[in-house]
Amino acid sequence: MDSFKKGTKAVWAGEGSIKGINAVTTPIVNSVAFAYNDLEEWYDVSKGNKEGFIYSRNTNPTVAVLEEKIRVLEGAEAATSFSTGMAAISNSLFTFLTAGKKVVSIKDTYGGASKLFLDFLPKYNIETELCDTTDHDAIETAIAKGCDVVYLETPTNPTLKVLDIERLSKAAKAVGAIVLVDNTFATPINQNPLQLGADLVLHSATKFLCGHSDAMGGLLAGKKELVQQVFHFREINGASLQADPAYMIARGMKTLELRIERQNASALIIANYLKSHDKISDVFYPGLSTHPGHEIAKKQMQGFGGMMSFSLKGGWEAVKKFLPALKLAHLAASLGSVSTLAGPPRTTSHVELTEEQRKQLGIPEGLIRYSVGIENVDDLLNDLEEALKKA
Ligand SMILES: Cc1ncc(COP(=O)(O)O)c(C=O)c1O
Repeated sequence: MDSFKKGTKAVWAGEGSIKGINAVTTPIVNSVAFAYNDLEEWYDVSKGNKEGFIYSRNTNPTVAVLEEKIRVLEGAEAATSFSTGMAAISNSLFTFLTAGKKVVSIKDTYGGASKLFLDFLPKYNIETELCDTTDHDAIETAIAKGCDVVYLETPTNPTLKVLDIERLSKAAKAVGAIVLVDNTFATPINQNPLQLGADLVLHSATKFLCGHSDAMGGLLAGKKELVQQVFHFREINGASLQADPAYMIARGMKTLELRIERQNASALIIANYLKSHDKISDVFYPGLSTHPGHEIAKKQMQGFGGMMSFSLKGGWEAVKKFLPALKLAHLAASLGSVSTLAGPPRTTSHVELTEEQRKQLGIPEGLIRYSVGIENVDDLLNDLEEALKKA
């Protein structure tokens, strides 16, 4: 599988691992438990001495196909899965962080992760230091003071800031910290953090990987010894992925490269269009040469992704007129689907935070997060043009 290109891996990885029925797509195995007449074999599988399945909270044949897809696409030694992206984040953090340990991260993580850093981890006496996302020197300094985990997200949600994964992974290695990267926005088609020095990469599979807004899941891939630790925490914690959503996500992933190539191309066209529109003050898209993280993005990404955000000069009042005027965008909290989705951070990524907290993060109330779908780009441009007339 390693010699194939990503689009091929996405289709074929993991397929055929469910033996005996010659299925040409991933079978959905909705069995809670797996029976053994041979007690010795049952014992061996339970102890991990032999491959097999025992109980679907631990592993399940359909879920294993999906885990293999992300393992291969991220070029990892091992992978595991979760019921949601947030379960991937919280299970990973709580595996490696116990009382007295420290995590260094950035101020701009996804709202749910941010809530963990600000409210939950400190309750367990875990120290969190959140750095200015735009200041790599400050992040390096914070890491050099000593920490156990470095948690990165790039590009960030919703202002698409870009972090240099290679540079920050080197800084983390120097102090023996584990580097964990949320790769949800980029997807493995556009960016592979493990190849840039990270130890673990995670995804909200709910987004681009599934791609159709119809299933939730989380995935983690990386060094075997680390993935196994998180897997053991998750199997007891219980945030396991079920066979049905695993099938939906695996099915979505078969078209991942096609969708991402389309979304990369359309997003760049749309970002350039918005940049020169007189009702728009800022466009945040790493593919624009004017974006502060463009050079880093060019170095570490194979495409700039389908996510962008932009500010309307007219602020919140203009947002209220503009968003409902869009005909080709669901005004909804998610992203990464075949259909375009749009919304303000105050009802989407950063709904968990107060207006004051959003302000401190530099998220204006007039910002709109726009997740480009696979529609024809001319239709999307016309739709934006018409809606902007009302803003
Ligand atoms: C970058 C990022 N990471 C993680 C998550 C959490 O994923 P989920 O909603 O599947 O729990 C989200 C959700 O929007 C996200 O945007």
